[in-house]
Amino acid sequence: MNHNIMLPAPYRILGVTKETKAEYTFRVACDVETRHGQFFQLSIPKVGEAPISVSARGEGYLEFTIRKVGRLTDGVFGLAAGDTLFMRGPYGTSWPLDEFRHKDLALIAGGTGLAPLRSTLRHFADHPGEVRSLHLIAGFKDLDSVLFAEDLARFREAFHTIATLDGAAAPGFEAGMVTAHIHKIPFASFEDYNVAVVGPPVMMRFVAQELEDLGVPDEKIWVSFERKMSCAVGKCGHCKIDETYVCLEGPVFNYTKARGLLD
Ligand SMILES: Cc1cc2nc3c(=O)[nH]c(=O)nc-3n(C[C@H](O)[C@H](O)[C@H](O)COP(=O)(O)OP(=O)(O)OC[C@H]3O[C@@H](n4cnc5c(N)ncnc54)[C@H](O)[C@@H]3O)c2cc1C
Ligand code: FES
Repeated sequence: MNHNIMLPAPYRILGVTKETKAEYTFRVACDVETRHGQFFQLSIPKVGEAPISVSARGEGYLEFTIRKVGRLTDGVFGLAAGDTLFMRGPYGTSWPLDEFRHKDLALIAGGTGLAPLRSTLRHFADHPGEVRSLHLIAGFKDLDSVLFAEDLARFREAFHTIATLDGAAAPGFEAGMVTAHIHKIPFASFEDYNVAVVGPPVMMRFVAQELEDLGVPDEKIWVSFERKMSCAVGKCGHCKIDETYVCLEGPVFNYTKARGLLD
């Protein structure tokens, strides 16, 4: 298929994995090249369109992990293997893997925020020699909200992994918000490192504050924004914060820039 990044094109759904009651992963037949952290505009004609991150990629397919919150996502949850999903993309900036390689890396995710980091985690689990150390803190509301159980088991083996539940602890999960565990990342022993953070805006603000308290400089921190979008190509202004077009300059930002954008 000729790929035009501006035009929604039909793609076949290969399978659907129910991660939680409200979050499903859709595997779509697609061989378009993407960079880790980029997103597509997913749509159903006459229903709607929304930006969704690529949560995994493989031979001939991409995966999208979607939280059911509104018009488009409700519609997508009604689709099954064999059905058609329309997509355009990929769009946006990506995690700076060249910057991450051969250094220490900490990834901090809240809830569905793990989705835009999942393909990066999978990449480093597949290529362990490419990163000096990787600390993952993944926070979930409760056991029913835990995403990517199989990946998480693999990440626990490959990386220094802390999984947390907002409420009480459970086997394999520590109690408390991700912010309560950030001090366990041994930043002082790192020679050179980066930290990537994804989650709801309030979580990113608190995490950034905690990182700042621990002496992590802004330029070491990377975040990804889930801002309302429409065109995704810098035309409509829906995603604009001050003078910044999140769809073009983001969703992945260095914190030196993102600090002024977190409302
Ligand atoms: C770069 C990027 C990547 C993203 N990646 C993902 C991802 O991987 N997975 C994912 O699940 N999401 C992701 N999102 C978020 C996703 O795009 C939004 O949740 C999107 O709004 C869903 O579209 P929708 O049509 O289903 O919901 P909408 O209908 O747009 O509803 C979105 C929210 O607005 C509320 N709302 C809708 N209408 C009204 C109204 N009239 N009054 C008050 N509130 C209202 C809804 O309750 C809901 O909370 C991403 C966003 C961005 C920008
Ligand atoms: S979404 Fe239209 S300008 Fe960014």
